Amino acid sequence: MATSRRRPPQPTPRRHAGRGAVKPALHHRRAAVEVLSPALRVMVISGPNLDRLGRREPSIYGTATLDDIHRRLENVAQENGAVVDCRQSNHEGDLLDWIGQSADGAADGILINPGALTHTSYALYDAVRSALIPTIEVHLSNPFAREEFRRKSLIAPACLGKVAGFGAMSYQLALMGLLDHLRTVAQSRPIVSGQR
Ligand code: DQA
Repeated sequence: MATSRRRPPQPTPRRHAGRGAVKPALHHRRAAVEVLSPALRVMVISGPNLDRLGRREPSIYGTATLDDIHRRLENVAQENGAVVDCRQSNHEGDLLDWIGQSADGAADGILINPGALTHTSYALYDAVRSALIPTIEVHLSNPFAREEFRRKSLIAPACLGKVAGFGAMSYQLALMGLLDHLRTVAQSRPIVSGQR
């Protein structure tokens, strides 16, 4: 008795990427990066006296409290598929420890407003320089437009960039810039399972 043997469906043959091959559209590759990548993690570090924002010289630093700033950053991060870990201390050693933890894998990048330590701390410069993850220096005021001693930033040479002079908005602008940078870097790397 004759049997009709139907051929099972075959997978579409793959073509080598090269001349004539169909490369995935850019938006498909971007979607793949977003699906495969875990949320980017940013450590946000604020130094001495920034816990007093809202009450501290509002004509220079504005009326937003540090809690207000942190809440806005959490929203911006959430809208952009990222998470922020926001911390403040009046003690230099805490800042150094947090930079070290970020470097050891707790974060993909750092936003740091070191307050007056910006102008005095070689230890912070060493920490940021050796962290080897992108770090953005943030200031509410524009230190260049203020007293002479504020015009020098010791950490600037170790940072990817700086945002200053936009009040509380400086932190948000810095976060957007850092996330964009981290994504650009991630997209220019091949996607390897299990790696960022
Ligand atoms: C500051 C500027 C510093 O010079 C100052 O010491 C601060 C705040 C800013 O955010 O504008 O504490 O970092």
